Amino acid sequence: MPARRRRPSRPSAHARRPRIPGRRLTNHHNDGARMKIGIVGAGNIGKTLSRTLSAAGHDVKVANSRGPETIDPVALSTGARAVDAADAARDVEVVILSMPFNRVPAFATALSAAPADAVVIDTSNYYPLRDDRIEAIDDGEVESVWLAQQIGRPVIKAWNAIGSASLAEKGAPAGTPGRIAIPVAADDADARKLGMMLVDQTGFDGFDAGPLSESWRRQPGGPC
Ligand SMILES: NC(=O)c1ccc[n+]([C@@H]2O[C@H](COP(=O)([O-])OP(=O)(O)OC[C@H]3O[C@@H](n4cnc5c(N)ncnc54)[C@H](OP(=O)(O)O)[C@@H]3O)[C@@H](O)[C@H]2O)c1
Repeated sequence: MPARRRRPSRPSAHARRPRIPGRRLTNHHNDGARMKIGIVGAGNIGKTLSRTLSAAGHDVKVANSRGPETIDPVALSTGARAVDAADAARDVEVVILSMPFNRVPAFATALSAAPADAVVIDTSNYYPLRDDRIEAIDDGEVESVWLAQQIGRPVIKAWNAIGSASLAEKGAPAGTPGRIAIPVAADDADARKLGMMLVDQTGFDGFDAGPLSESWRRQPGGPC
């Protein structure tokens, strides 16, 4: 794989750009209440998030690209509903995108069906050999910052730095010695809190990983 250009501690493209218009989270988003969550992508990561977030008490719907009848029953085993991708973002408080990185921009239109104040969480990682090469990222743009621009919404980055088998099998109750931590990045501190709360509910400590501009450190091959 060709070496990717990485500039340590750079003044990021994020810092040079005005912030994507965002919203303030309401208390409801951070108080642990049952939330309506749409998960787009029901593969290795999405099906586990569907299972664990439903088990945590949330109202979860989950979609893939092929239709509800093809969703792995594991994703639905704790109460989540299988829906069409076009419906996944409608009438939800949180949308979790869990699809290949290069498929996310094309989902922007469907995502526009989400309420303006819905929170978007993304699990994706950019793999140049798997995904289409993206020149801006190869030139040094931070993956998650680029993705947020493409979809026109602020993004919380979570669950991207753990393998799917660990996500499915190594969750543990809060306070368990040796509990694995998962980094959560977002520009808004309240958004990070929400992401960390949801990470906690999937069986892992949420680690406050700061703004999106630093999230490149947790991309594959990054220094962490
Ligand atoms: N696997 C890991 O260990 C791991 C760890 C951390 C992060 N990640 C990242 O998390 C993301 C998901 O990984 P994964 O391993 O779960 O991928 P995956 O097993 O390949 O699943 C991808 C899912 O996305 C769905 N999808 C693709 N395009 C879609 C669209 N336009 N609308 C709705 N659904 C769509 C696919 O549906 P269909 O099957 O119907 O096409 C599939 O359910 C990737 O970006 C990956 O890099 C993966």
